[in-house]
Amino acid sequence: MNIATEQHHFRLETDHDDIVWLHMDKADAGANVLGSEVLRELDRHLEAIASRAPRGLVILSDKANGFIAGADIHEFTRIRNEAEALELVRLGQSVFNRLAALGFPSVALIHGFCLGGGLELALACRYRVALDSPGTRLGLPEVRLGIHPGFGGSVRLPPLVGGLKAMDMMLSGRSVDARRARRIGLVDQVVPQRYLRDAARQRVLDAPPPARPGWRDRLSNHALVRPLLARVLRRKIAAKASKLHYPAPYALIDIWQQYADEPAQMLQAEADSIASLVKGVTARNLIRVFMLQEQLKALGRDTPWKPRAVHVIGAGTMGGDIAAWCALRGFRVSLQDQSPGRIAPAIKRAHELFKRRLKDPIAIQAALDRLLPDHQGLGVGRADIVIEAIFEDAEVKRALYRDIEPRMQDDAVIATNTSSIPLEELGGVLARPGRLVGLHFFNPVPVMRLVEIVNGTSTTAEVSGKAMAFTRQLDRLPLPVSSTPGFLVNRILMPYLLEAVKLESEGVPAAVIDRAATAFGMPMGPMELADTTGLDICLHVAQILSGHFHNEIPERLQQLVTAGRLGRKSGRGFYRYDKGKAVKSGSKGGNWNLQEITDRLVLRLLNEAVACLRERVVENSDLLDAGMIFATGFAPFRGGPMHYVDAIGAAVMRGQLQQLEQLRGKRFTPDTGWETVFKHSG
Ligand code: NAI
Repeated sequence: MNIATEQHHFRLETDHDDIVWLHMDKADAGANVLGSEVLRELDRHLEAIASRAPRGLVILSDKANGFIAGADIHEFTRIRNEAEALELVRLGQSVFNRLAALGFPSVALIHGFCLGGGLELALACRYRVALDSPGTRLGLPEVRLGIHPGFGGSVRLPPLVGGLKAMDMMLSGRSVDARRARRIGLVDQVVPQRYLRDAARQRVLDAPPPARPGWRDRLSNHALVRPLLARVLRRKIAAKASKLHYPAPYALIDIWQQYADEPAQMLQAEADSIASLVKGVTARNLIRVFMLQEQLKALGRDTPWKPRAVHVIGAGTMGGDIAAWCALRGFRVSLQDQSPGRIAPAIKRAHELFKRRLKDPIAIQAALDRLLPDHQGLGVGRADIVIEAIFEDAEVKRALYRDIEPRMQDDAVIATNTSSIPLEELGGVLARPGRLVGLHFFNPVPVMRLVEIVNGTSTTAEVSGKAMAFTRQLDRLPLPVSSTPGFLVNRILMPYLLEAVKLESEGVPAAVIDRAATAFGMPMGPMELADTTGLDICLHVAQILSGHFHNEIPERLQQLVTAGRLGRKSGRGFYRYDKGKAVKSGSKGGNWNLQEITDRLVLRLLNEAVACLRERVVENSDLLDAGMIFATGFAPFRGGPMHYVDAIGAAVMRGQLQQLEQLRGKRFTPDTGWETVFKHSG
């Protein structure tokens, strides 16, 4: 290999104290990630530095966005077998072992992202110094990819912060900010930007003994305590994820319980475990989900547009939260409503959100200052984007558009949050229908990461691009869909929800239906989901969609709504709610055929998904999978609905639908897309 192209991810400088500063700046990349090429280059540098034995080594990043974001996930997808996986993991382990074995002080100087392999590298240094900023994030999120730390992280973290805290970090995949990292002993020092380099230098010069956790944390690693803690941890994990679907956390607990006193064996076990996990179905599918997310993040990247001012009309459930979220993300927002009384509660909710998310009083006040109540709608004329979130009534929306368009800036965008009205029905009243696009946020806005970008036949490509760019600036994932009833997500979800209602009206307990769905891998069963959404809202959407797709609405849904049982918000729906929690009884009893329940639910969902592909509601099956995973939590370890179809085989599923059609009726008639969309895959 050519040395010039190989050695280009790092830069070395040696200062007058004979401290080597090893700067990482991965070539041709926005963020530092650790692939095998980078690791090999790092290894050569470490070997050379070790033989020269300087006073100390500081490893830092020249990327503005952070230290190291993790291992190179793209490389994972190219791994063909266990032996290749093992080779990559061993490489990472040996490089970090070399780092850990240096005979002089080493410091990781951390700002921004320090995740996965990046944190494992930092853990192999003798000290860690981090920038005092909420943007500093340290974590080991590997479980989210169906694996666990593999470059020695699971071996080095427990002795540093204690078994329980270490396992909590690795099992949850959650990251911590610099101050929390300091509190738990993960970093030695947290300093403002201007002292960062000095602090690292001083660490090397002083070379204090490496940090050790307190006795309680040390005790949690003790051989007699570990089996007990491991049992508790397994129980906690089991409540959230089954071993069959998510093997990695269980493997991690086993390794820690068995080997925490024997680092060399633990490293070996860590490597073996990763090698077998990374080729498993779960990891492959979760890595696919990660890639899908990257794909959505890339949308709108080509449109260099950033609105200066945002105007939101409608301060109800959605508009109020959308306005708050925009202000949280740094936009200047004016909020209008025809009933001035709706604005104050929306601002109050926004305040709560800012407090929860920002914590710092100055930042909270600044966000509040960015959010202006605007009864008269003066913001319309200043806004670069007007977001409409008023009643779901086409005539009311049209009247509003007629009123505001003459006051808008020439190139301002109108974005509607409609959940069901085709844009063609709304845009006709505009002098420039091409400026109308759908920005379909999901409820609750601060939680739901997907936003459907609804393109009507008149929406211009420029406006669609602006909508996607804006969605990214809101840190949300844009999914372009065509303006057909229900768009993508609600349309696919509705037959699944209605089938659940049908099952319930046939006498299957709600808790049993939900158990079948969660066993399949849904984060929440359809009965609880309907209750959470509100049965009145479900009924309304079902009615709109049934006009187009002949979805029969079980009478039971109307009955519950008429009886005032609207779900969680009214304290009763399919479940009774006690302090906001569903009281689920009878989920274990009875002799129910869970497989048939699952089939009925899932096959209706998949049938509608195939119909959407046939009608090109989304461009391709990857985007469909991304939409359903990020908006509904569709079993991520299955890689999305269409990926699941591929795994089982389209012909098999079509056959199952035909059987159900005979048994249960026309709602199971296979869509014609099963033949046309899958004509190549069979
Ligand atoms: P909401 O009833 O909570 O709020 C609507 C607000 O709009 C009310 O405060 C009302 O006073 C105001 N309003 C109505 N006409 C107005 C006008 N001409 N000028 C100014 N203000 C006006 O409704 P929600 O649930 O927030 O829904 C708003 C939109 O978002 C609808 O199009 C709905 O389909 C859509 N949506 C709703 C979701 C939900 O879960 N609630 C989810 C996604 C979209």
